[in-house]
Amino acid sequence: MRWSNTYIPTLREDPSDAEVASHKLMLRAGFIRRLGSGAYSYLPLGLRILRNIENIIRDEMNAAGASEVLLPAMQPAELWKKTDRFKLLEEILITYKDRSGKLNVFGPTHEEVITDLVARDIRSYRDLPKLLYQIQTKFRDEPRPRFGVLRSKEFVMKDAYSFDKDEKGLEVIYKKMHEAYRRIFDRCGLEYVSVEADSGFMGGSESHEFMAPASCGEDKVICGKDKKEKAAIELGHIFKLGTKYSKPLGARYLDEDGKEKDAIMGCYGIGVNRIFAAVIEQNNDKDGMIWPIAIAPYQVLIIVIDPADKDVVKESERIYKELIDSGIETILDDRDERPGIKFKDADLIGFPLKVTVGKKSLKEGKVELKPRKTQKTSLHPSNKIISVIKDHLK
Ligand SMILES: Nc1ncnc2c1ncn2[C@@H]1O[C@H](COP(=O)(O)OP(=O)(O)O)[C@@H](O)[C@H]1O
Ligand SMILES: [Mg+2]
Repeated sequence: MRWSNTYIPTLREDPSDAEVASHKLMLRAGFIRRLGSGAYSYLPLGLRILRNIENIIRDEMNAAGASEVLLPAMQPAELWKKTDRFKLLEEILITYKDRSGKLNVFGPTHEEVITDLVARDIRSYRDLPKLLYQIQTKFRDEPRPRFGVLRSKEFVMKDAYSFDKDEKGLEVIYKKMHEAYRRIFDRCGLEYVSVEADSGFMGGSESHEFMAPASCGEDKVICGKDKKEKAAIELGHIFKLGTKYSKPLGARYLDEDGKEKDAIMGCYGIGVNRIFAAVIEQNNDKDGMIWPIAIAPYQVLIIVIDPADKDVVKESERIYKELIDSGIETILDDRDERPGIKFKDADLIGFPLKVTVGKKSLKEGKVELKPRKTQKTSLHPSNKIISVIKDHLK
């Protein structure tokens, strides 16, 4: 991508309406913009990061044997009345009446919808277990939306649901999901702990939360060997639900003896935007963000120091093209801006690798490489830079 061609409206100053590091940095880097209370637009770089996180989640869900579906955000309130959650969640439900006068809910979660769906299709023990997931926008009228996308009214969740014959089957899938969550957070470069938790408004017997230590966290966890209490962000939450939803919504099956039984359920949620913000909370310094390679908006940034110099432009373009041809996600800062501005934006956004092409070094056939994490500059022969970059990205 050419910088001049995309949309990266960076800000010089910290926005006055942001309190925590991730919120400030996401606004300053032009990743997001606020539309209204708890509602944010994702701009090109922010969306790339969000999609990278989604794809890691998708990859691990598929590997764990889950199948992807997409359920409607618009849900009949009737369905929510069957499980008594219309009353229970009244405060946070965002509702509307359709033109026929029917009350609907914008889904804050999907237990009701998925159970109603599966109830119509499963017949016997041979149809079980089933494990389904989606990555979709949720709506909750949060009483205190804050910290940017960490607590918003409209957010992206990966929610998975399992249907089993018995508790033993549920235990197997629950463990599998627990493992998949570990791999997701590891791949996103997060520090986290998994803790036993309260099941809250989901109901059920057992649940675990995945917590990322961060100073702005709204929860508390005991961390590591030193047993210190730390503030943490809740990234994900998995629940054993039992028959709480299958019973009222009629998700039943015939067992081996022809007896009718309620399916045993579990549900497994991850906040995609929360992972985004938590990675920033854990990976920033005074100059900006430091993106892990796996979810960075681009892996390599090429800075063209003298956009008026023909040789500099030619060599920058060559490196850019070769990187792209090698399948490396690269952005070329071809803007007609002072080097100081380009360097500041580079550090703010925190692309993992920065290649600088300038007149002086290029006269000696060299270009500069600087990983954002170490900030250690090294000079390399320009004709070797592609393989040097490949080594760094390994
Ligand atoms: N308002 C929100 N904004 C952003 N992400 C959220 C929000 N509410 C929940 N999430 C994410 O969705 C995941 C599953 O939500 P859940 O456990 O059902 O919500 P809660 O913890 O509010 O009861 C949470 O672990 C969190 O990562
Ligand atoms: Mg929760």
